Amino acid sequence: MISGYLLSSLPYMTANVFVIDHPLIQHKLTLARRAETSTTKFRSLITEISMLLAYEVTRDLPLRYDLIKTPMAAMNAPVLASDKKLVIVSIMRAGQGILDGMLQLIPSARVGHIGLYRDPKLLIPVEYYFKVPHDIEERDMIVVDPMIATGNSAVAAVDRLKETSPRSLKLVCLLTAPEGIQNFHSHHPDVPIYTAAIDQGLDENGYIIPGLGDAGDRLFGTK
Ligand code: URA
Repeated sequence: MISGYLLSSLPYMTANVFVIDHPLIQHKLTLARRAETSTTKFRSLITEISMLLAYEVTRDLPLRYDLIKTPMAAMNAPVLASDKKLVIVSIMRAGQGILDGMLQLIPSARVGHIGLYRDPKLLIPVEYYFKVPHDIEERDMIVVDPMIATGNSAVAAVDRLKETSPRSLKLVCLLTAPEGIQNFHSHHPDVPIYTAAIDQGLDENGYIIPGLGDAGDRLFGTK
């Protein structure tokens, strides 16, 4: 059971959205949202939140039992059945912040990257980088992007990643807007979204309100 809540009652929501409302995540997210939070502090908060999100999103990982010896006795003890079969895919560049936190908790996970930019004339996402591990068919994929605003990048990334046929696919973010959830699930209703919050909406530039600003700029200090 996920320790958050599953949204299905609001008209724009599909059932596949998990809001992880753990108090530690909510507290750290509030600190990250504050305009006066420094780049150094923002980065460490995103790492900490991502570790906590990783804990929730991996709740259903299968276990196997290995025979081990403690100093006192032998026992059949649970271990992850397939930790090396996890692949975390970062949507560049802001996905890197979540990736770093998740890798601290799951160091054996494999990693993929996808880079997209928006063509200024056609207004469609264009891929400029794509690298994922081999044997994706045998791997469970977690796609990470801190902000699902319009949802267009997430839709394009998952369109592309589905071509590699992962065994399963989940999307993890910090913040979403209702518009982004609706857009994403109109294309990929089968992909669950794990988020720390659903904000009010988008401004005219596609930024989440109240949001936390530009996640990439705040992570990398580029503004
Ligand atoms: N990307 C961001 O980094 N922030 C937003 O609010 C929307 C998209």
